[in-house]
Amino acid sequence: METPATLDALLRELRRRLQAAGLEEPGLEARLLLGAATGLDTSTLIARGLDAPTASQRERADALCQRREAGEPIAHILGRRAFWTLDLEVSAACLIPRPETELLVERAIAAIDACERAHPRVLDLGTGSGAIILALKAERPAIEAVATDRSPDALRQARANADALGLDVTFLQGTWLSPFTPGEAFDVIVSNPPYIAPNDPHLNRGDLRFEPREALAAPEGGLGDLYTIIDTTPAHLLPGAPLLLEHGFDQARDVRARMAQVGYREVRSLCDPAGHERVTIGTRA
Ligand SMILES: C[S@@+](CC[C@H](N)C(=O)[O-])C[C@H]1O[C@@H](n2cnc3c(N)ncnc32)[C@H](O)[C@@H]1O
Repeated sequence: METPATLDALLRELRRRLQAAGLEEPGLEARLLLGAATGLDTSTLIARGLDAPTASQRERADALCQRREAGEPIAHILGRRAFWTLDLEVSAACLIPRPETELLVERAIAAIDACERAHPRVLDLGTGSGAIILALKAERPAIEAVATDRSPDALRQARANADALGLDVTFLQGTWLSPFTPGEAFDVIVSNPPYIAPNDPHLNRGDLRFEPREALAAPEGGLGDLYTIIDTTPAHLLPGAPLLLEHGFDQARDVRARMAQVGYREVRSLCDPAGHERVTIGTRA
């Protein structure tokens, strides 16, 4: 293989390798990897496309491309993922925030706006990188933002993101609502918990192989954590306050049934842009 003589040629070479590896967006990812290898943004890469890459730029690009060819998620290689309006640092300690979760953020903002209190207390259960609570705090700075996670490593990542963004969020470690005393209540509770069945073969494919299993898989065929949250949140919601849950595309019916059984009112599910029932909302009686 000829050594690429220009940045443009190196970009084409990366694109060809990513395409050959069967990746879905080889053009976009090649640009991102070349940007990371050279420290140049996209417009500079275009403007300087005829410049010769240095030997170390070529080596870095090759090393990053090899990691992607081996299946490592692009977000882990770059150490970053865009979510909502935020640029978040991500690592192997936390779930890579997904675009589907922006529906949950959108609905949580509407729920916050429906609150009459000046400083609604908003809780994010299983915060991971902090994606949801940071998006909410960025959009509605008046909220009192609280988030929990069982994983100390994920919480470290979430705190680092909050610090980098200058957003004030209280992070607490513990299993679901265990960090709270009985009667401690919120105006809105939101969660994107693990919801994949432990025996789902997708866990051993693609990006999921590189993400923490405890952020993805839940007992009872994937419904166990959703059920725990549904059962325990009424004690921590103010009367009339909503619970908003993200879940799998085929779990809406079970989630609605459990919410109704526990006494939630106005239970309804909402579709993501792909037409899947992805978020279910209920109001504490
Ligand atoms: C699907 S990830 C969601 C992360 C983040 N909220 C997002 O949307 O990108 C689920 C998160 O729940 C956390 N988690 C799993 N089991 C938990 C438990 N029993 N108590 C608290 N957090 C838990 C995981 O560590 C993980 O960060």
